[in-house]
Amino acid sequence: MEIKKIQEVDLKNKAVLLRVDFNVEIENGSAKEQFKILAAKKTVKYILSQEGARLALITHLGRPEGKKNQDFSLRQITGGLEEILGVKIKFVEDCVGDKVKQALNNLEQGEILLLENVRFYKEEENNDREFAEKLAENFDIFVNDAFSVCHRDQASVTGIAKVLPGLAGFRLQEEIEKLKKVKENPEHPAVAVIGGAKIETKLPLIRSFEKNYDYVLAGGKVSIEATDRNLKFSDNVILAFDLIENGKDIGEKTAAKFKEIILQAKTVVWNGPMGKFEQPPFDKGTKEIIEAIIASGAFSVAGGGESIQVLEENGWLEKISFVSTGGGAMLEYLSGGRMPGLEVLENNFPRP
Ligand code: 3PG
Repeated sequence: MEIKKIQEVDLKNKAVLLRVDFNVEIENGSAKEQFKILAAKKTVKYILSQEGARLALITHLGRPEGKKNQDFSLRQITGGLEEILGVKIKFVEDCVGDKVKQALNNLEQGEILLLENVRFYKEEENNDREFAEKLAENFDIFVNDAFSVCHRDQASVTGIAKVLPGLAGFRLQEEIEKLKKVKENPEHPAVAVIGGAKIETKLPLIRSFEKNYDYVLAGGKVSIEATDRNLKFSDNVILAFDLIENGKDIGEKTAAKFKEIILQAKTVVWNGPMGKFEQPPFDKGTKEIIEAIIASGAFSVAGGGESIQVLEENGWLEKISFVSTGGGAMLEYLSGGRMPGLEVLENNFPRP
């Protein structure tokens, strides 16, 4: 199935709606993290460089449950965005209707629009067809650069691509390429390191890697939950066996065993911390595991909000071969779950 790439289509004089994921933590009225915003930069700059193209960004922020709520307004991140993306941004107080139309008509050279939080409308999460048509009405082309929402069947992800022709942005292309490689064609020995909590969200991933990876190493709360539920795994799955204070960190013996395996690896996928990393000294196990991943020289892929946080705080983002913007989306993709946001882009240009 083919997904058309943004660079394969002429965007001259087109009005483009770009789905990004700026669902970032807000601190003191501005974006705390830059990672997800930077991820969209290449596509934003590219569209802006196309003669006569006009660009609006659409995203959700948090879970405002279909109601307007200034705590979740995108206005808060407009200033920070200008700095991070290096472009002039005009904030629009709505994501549909006349305000969008006027702002697009008045757009100046080098400027882009940032539309208000699409989740202020309950129709977004309900994937309402009429709402998707309203989102689309001022635009010629839809571009998705938000891999991290592709597991959602929502109006600004899938509904809109049933109305407008849809393309994959550069970041989305890269996410698919890198994650597909570790999923389908990993170089061996291949090791998956799974941490964090909520075994029900991590179990499909463990089961999937159990089949084609040499080792699956599980630390953090998931290893306790797996033991409590008496889950049975094949021999290549190793659960942390000497936990500190009921799972606040992995113990020295587990860390040593995990590191020994990781250091031999040619591929490592890591999702989720080994314990309560935000509360030193319980960050020790997580940090040692990341250091081993880096030292192994393996092709490494990491993802998930907490994993990104640890990497960002320690200046390790650049040391991992590929850091996915996807949390839930990465889990879903790697465990072979449905990705409606990708499915809808298949054979979708021009619209059938
Ligand atoms: C994420 O942060 O993983 C994405 O933005 C998806 O957010 P959601 O889980 O609220 O849909």
